[in-house]
Amino acid sequence: MNFLEKLKNWQGLINQRLDQSLPAGHIQPEQLHLAIRHSVNGGGKRLRPILMLAAHEIFPGILDPFPAALAIECIHTYSLIHDDLPAMDDSDMRRGQASCHKAFDEATAILAGDALQPFAFELLSTSYSCHPELAIDLIQMLARASGSQKLVGGQMQDLLSEGTMPDESTLSYIHSNKTAVMIETALKMGFRMGSQGVNREKLSIIGEAGHFLGLAFQAVDDLLDVTKTSLELGKDAHQDDESGKVTWVSLKGLDEAHRLAEEHSNNAIQTLDSVGGDTNFLCELIYFMLKRKF
Ligand code: IPE
Ligand code: IPE
Ligand code: MG
Ligand code: MG
Ligand code: MG
Repeated sequence: MNFLEKLKNWQGLINQRLDQSLPAGHIQPEQLHLAIRHSVNGGGKRLRPILMLAAHEIFPGILDPFPAALAIECIHTYSLIHDDLPAMDDSDMRRGQASCHKAFDEATAILAGDALQPFAFELLSTSYSCHPELAIDLIQMLARASGSQKLVGGQMQDLLSEGTMPDESTLSYIHSNKTAVMIETALKMGFRMGSQGVNREKLSIIGEAGHFLGLAFQAVDDLLDVTKTSLELGKDAHQDDESGKVTWVSLKGLDEAHRLAEEHSNNAIQTLDSVGGDTNFLCELIYFMLKRKF
């Protein structure tokens, strides 16, 4: 299988297993479960679960990495549902369809996001219960990455900084926490499930590579917001400038944002060099993420 075939195959498997794992739409309260399914099953590139599977493959282990991959996608999707709310970015479109609060209503979107969080931890705690040390590590990694000093902290600072004069340290805080942490965590959780998962030194190198990749990823997201249309992106474009977001584009312009995305991607690949194992797919994925069009 070449790179794109493998990517598509994993996307298909992730979609299938998400569909099987989520509560069915007919379960009470139907509206909540339909809203969860609308957002989770509504497309999405599935990059975080794929990053997790790719990191697991460096030194594969014996356990099924998919439940953990689904868990991170659930946390990511909740963060998108809440990110789109009128109180946050106020976005009408997501993953090529109406955002959750538009397709349903605000209260339902808040609750759909709320419900996806415990669901992620339930997946981890039940799927890896025969390996308690691993389960605890995975739960800790995802919980920490999702919390007030990481993902949620980054989202808070993103909102607090709207309309302010951008400065590099604030920008770096926002990007590191709202975006890079989840990408870093996807790689670390994947590696942790592999046969060398308890090698702390390698785990921290993987995390460092993930940090670079996450910074590149958000720089590209900010570039796409300016250069593409909503139709192309499947989500509201040209929003960052309108709402006065602090981005690399607003701070340094398009060319510099592009240069930084390339530099961080190269750093991610170089960092992975010292881990050993099979990083071929992961390295191709890093370039795919850099060159993506949505
Ligand atoms: C969007 O993430 C949010 C950011 C962190 C920039 P993705 O671009 O991975 O969104 P989906 O999952 O493919 O919809
Ligand atoms: C959101 O960043 C990151 C998270 C959801 C944590 P953005 O607000 O830039 O993401 P998009 O552009 O709406 O996808
Ligand atoms: Mg946002
Ligand atoms: Mg947004
Ligand atoms: Mg964006």
